[in-house]
Amino acid sequence: MDKIVVEGGAQLKGEIRISGAKNAALPIMAATLLSPGKFLLSNVPRLRDVLTMEHVLRVLGAQVTHHDHSITVDTTNCNYHEAPYELVKTMRASICVLGPVLARLGRARVSLPGGCAWGPRPVDFHIKAMRDLGATVEIDHGYIVAEAKRLKGASIVFEKSSVGATENAMMAATLADGTTVIENAASEPEISALANFLRSMGAVIDGDGTGTITIEGADELRSADVNVVPDRIEAGTFMVAAAITRGDVLIMGADIAQCGAVVSKLREAGVEIIAVEDGIRVRGPERLESVNVTTAPYPGFPTDMQAQFMALMSVAGGSSVVTDTVYADRFSHVPELRRLGADITMDRNVAVVTGVEHLSGAKVMATDLRASAALILAGLVAEGTTEVSRVYHIDRGYEAIEKKLSGLGAHIWREKAAA
Ligand code: EPZ
Repeated sequence: MDKIVVEGGAQLKGEIRISGAKNAALPIMAATLLSPGKFLLSNVPRLRDVLTMEHVLRVLGAQVTHHDHSITVDTTNCNYHEAPYELVKTMRASICVLGPVLARLGRARVSLPGGCAWGPRPVDFHIKAMRDLGATVEIDHGYIVAEAKRLKGASIVFEKSSVGATENAMMAATLADGTTVIENAASEPEISALANFLRSMGAVIDGDGTGTITIEGADELRSADVNVVPDRIEAGTFMVAAAITRGDVLIMGADIAQCGAVVSKLREAGVEIIAVEDGIRVRGPERLESVNVTTAPYPGFPTDMQAQFMALMSVAGGSSVVTDTVYADRFSHVPELRRLGADITMDRNVAVVTGVEHLSGAKVMATDLRASAALILAGLVAEGTTEVSRVYHIDRGYEAIEKKLSGLGAHIWREKAAA
């Protein structure tokens, strides 16, 4: 398995461009299953998770080709309704084919996703939504088995905000008979990106980006092309990279309007953040201030930035309290940050981070996507060499992160595992 090696100490300077958003591209790829035809998706990030979703689409009968950052999907002959365990276990987001396949074919058999590095991640809201829309849904030998001759518009009320369940419900409802209203819907920007794509396919959707989304079902949709929106979590990760190294970085293609909670917390920590034409300029202070942060559904502080922000706070002055209310146990990065010298104590879903004068390089292990980003960020300032193993985790969600960081002056490279 490859590893990424970082020599700490460089101040990042220069300009990088943000890739397309993984968490917008994946549901959009699934949405192509709703209609036969040819789709051109551009500004798609080159990530392991995107390749996995391409594979899922092929298993379901689509023809998929990619060239550079564009993907063409031909769903004309999609007639297979099963997403196998072997694929779903590698990427939970595969669950978002459930709604489209059920709506298009009248039946779907999708493996229950495996657990994750941070606890079981249930899919009960997804199942509830399909049942609300009139499908029969059973669990059979580890698979979700759903059937409905034609889904019926319904009122769907989620007990808590769920990005994936909102996406599955919205996609399925576009082909239902009648009107669907989703209450307590997630309002992340990726939901609106998906809704925009569905509208370009002929769907009638209102309210995306708010807690209530209304969908008028259609008998059929059409193919469409799409340019994937920029990745706000990659943008936040590079903001932290600039901040933690006292650097001065231009993050091009980032939409500051989608990064409000992260920008606000970084400014509280003393980081200078300026919106510029087509991007964000970030300058790190000589001394970072400790800041408390609690994650929440959008527009709150994203759980996907919790690990990265914790790395930043590990070298700030004072103590900060980091609370994750979205996932109670998304802290697998803590033991690894401690190996780098971070002073972090834990109590359930609350971490207290006491800033230290300096971190020191060590061998550490990536455990999940955002935890591995946090370890690389810490390595940028740790004295000496940090080796992050199992970087396949980071390749799931960051396109060539070591190349982008070395382009900003970081001393970072990838070492291929011995064959
Ligand atoms: C999406 O996952 C993102 N993934 C995650 O990003 C992100 O962390 C998460 O939303 C929260 O923002 C993609 O978009 C591909 P949820 P998702 O359903 O949809 C509970 C990354 O790093 N829940 O919004 O799976 C769940 O356990 C990834 O890019 C249920 O209880 O997340 C969690 O506590 C990691 N039952 C909360 O809701 C359900 O049926 C929010 O989860 C579904 C979710």
